[in-house]
Amino acid sequence: MLIETLSTFPNMYDSVMGTSIMKRAQDKGALQFRAYDLRDWTHDRHRTTDDDPYGGGHGLVMKCEPIFEAYEAITRDAALPKPTTVFLSPCGRSFDDALATELSQSERLLFVCGHYEGIDERAYALADVTVSLGDYVLTSGELASMVVIDAVVRKIPGVLGAELGAVEESFAGGLLEYPQYTRPASFRGSCVPDVLLSGNHAAIARWRREQSLARTAQLRPDLLRCADLDEADRRFLRN
Ligand code: ADE
Repeated sequence: MLIETLSTFPNMYDSVMGTSIMKRAQDKGALQFRAYDLRDWTHDRHRTTDDDPYGGGHGLVMKCEPIFEAYEAITRDAALPKPTTVFLSPCGRSFDDALATELSQSERLLFVCGHYEGIDERAYALADVTVSLGDYVLTSGELASMVVIDAVVRKIPGVLGAELGAVEESFAGGLLEYPQYTRPASFRGSCVPDVLLSGNHAAIARWRREQSLARTAQLRPDLLRCADLDEADRRFLRN
């Protein structure tokens, strides 16, 4: 997969994309990453990317000309597939596992990120999808895009090891994850549940499923409506 970003602070990606699983995905050849500087498509001495809002009001608005010029230059290479273009905004579609899966199936993603201020509405004509992380406002579209990139890249086949892949499957079933423990078995009087030390794999699987169901019912009952439940799950939830 090729992931590209267009923003005024391309260096914000250095640590996240240069560390841990995001770095390993690139080293393995599963991911190519390029961060473009929107200022490279401005034409004035100050490399201006924003301006006062028409109609007045606080703050500045990102101009549409450099965004269009950058988009045209970035997508000019006919040898590459046309990107799925993603804008980040609290006005977008709520980001979730289903949208991460959809985006992970694209060969090329281009993220267009604002900073502080809004983006001229006309630039949204370039968007295939506008994504919101939630009902709050971030100062940085770069930060929002990094969350989306992380959730998408971990779904590219071969990026995660088998162990983490199993965790992924547990969320794809639509439930919250069961509690996890590691050594020591007893810590300051708090003990790991006996079943996890039993070596009984069927009992462990049942316990984990029931913990996921109970946790989801308690913390996110809305998820149960769309979760993948069998008759045993329904019986457990009724009790
Ligand atoms: N940019 C600013 N706030 C955002 C949010 N909540 N989601 C996505 N992009 C944003």
